[in-house]
Amino acid sequence: MSAISRAQAACATALLWSASTSASTLTRPQSDYILACGGCHGPTGVSNSNVVPRLEGLVGYYLNLPAGRDYLPRLPNIAFAAVSDQRLTDLLNYMVFVLGRDSVPAGAKPYVTAEVARLRKRPLTEVSLIAYRRGLVDVLIQRYGAPAALGAYGDDGAEAVGAARRASR
Ligand code: HEC
Repeated sequence: MSAISRAQAACATALLWSASTSASTLTRPQSDYILACGGCHGPTGVSNSNVVPRLEGLVGYYLNLPAGRDYLPRLPNIAFAAVSDQRLTDLLNYMVFVLGRDSVPAGAKPYVTAEVARLRKRPLTEVSLIAYRRGLVDVLIQRYGAPAALGAYGDDGAEAVGAARRASR
């Protein structure tokens, strides 16, 4: 085991403990989320960093648009997560319908395994991701009542990317 994966394992264990006093009370999608995603996005979807988007109370807005629904399983960290199609589907539904809370539009259907299996085979690349997201978020804020907070990450991200590019010149 490399030093990095040891550190990741230690971190995931700490998160499991902090998320619940007893690991046995976690559902499988919840523990899959904490292990695969919680290190960056936080155990309840509230990240510690403005370069990692908040999921809690926001991520459901994407289900207003077909392209937004497709966006989630195509994100590289989701598409390449080391879990089966079935478990990834359960994880996504946990993320959207539990962590996303009121942001989920009325009548939104849970992801199904065949859909997730198909979409994760077409992951977004880093280059396409920011522009793709910006297009979705603008529409969700203007037409679907998503809060400006959904755009905040993109702005920070674009600024951070711009600053990094300027610094590297
Ligand atoms: C190494 C840190 C890291 C891990 C692990 C990670 N993410 Fe992310 N996630 C990010 C970052 C950074 C972004 C911003 C876009 C990008 O660079 O991919 C992001 C973007 C997202 C978004 C898009 C939110 C939006 O408003 O655009 C979702 C949803 C998401 N991640 C869910 C997950 C899930 C589910 C997992 C676990 C399967 C996961 N992430 C694992 C760092 C991470």
